[in-house]
Amino acid sequence: EKDLGDDLKSVLITKEEIDAKLAELAAAIDEEYAGRDVLLVGVLKGAVMVMADLARALSSHVTMDWMAVSSYGAGTQSSGVVRILKDLDTDIKGKHVLIVEDIIDSGLTLSWLLSNLGSREPASLEVVTLLRKPDAAKVDIEVKWVGFDIPNEFVVGYGLDFSERYRNLPFVGTLAPHIYGGTED
Ligand code: PRP
Ligand code: MN
Ligand code: MG
Repeated sequence: EKDLGDDLKSVLITKEEIDAKLAELAAAIDEEYAGRDVLLVGVLKGAVMVMADLARALSSHVTMDWMAVSSYGAGTQSSGVVRILKDLDTDIKGKHVLIVEDIIDSGLTLSWLLSNLGSREPASLEVVTLLRKPDAAKVDIEVKWVGFDIPNEFVVGYGLDFSERYRNLPFVGTLAPHIYGGTED
């Protein structure tokens, strides 16, 4: 049985770098929402790790809810077709909502989510994402908190998958081309 790390080309962001960044983001978020209750909305499944670690780095009261949407399916390219697989359990009208994402790639998922959740009349609606790929953006989105801007390469780990695998890597890495059928360089 091969180790899952054998399928990687490189480690892009270490666990230590992720932890330090989440602590920074949590401090900024604590300050922004001081005295106000915030509802963290995690986007399944990719945002599970960010949600779990960011929520524990916050020192203010938060509640959590989850939405499952998928635009990628099993491929490496965003299709732009967003499906709701699981909606929120709670009514967000009048609430301060913070969407928690692992990555903004084309931006299509988030753009759709912002308009969908925005129409439910939250008191405020912001986004925190661990990763963003500026060179892959197909739509322009206002994102209040971004952990790392990364190159337009296929990345896995810390929640991010390739065909549902690699989510449990504790760091973010790039996948070896032979795994996803890309070209070696
Ligand atoms: C991935 C990722 C983001 C989205 C970003 O989710 O977790 O939610 O794609 O891509 P975009 O900016 O091009 O829309 P995916 O649809 O793969 O579902 P998953 O979170 O269950 O892996
Ligand atoms: Mn996702
Ligand atoms: Mg995915």
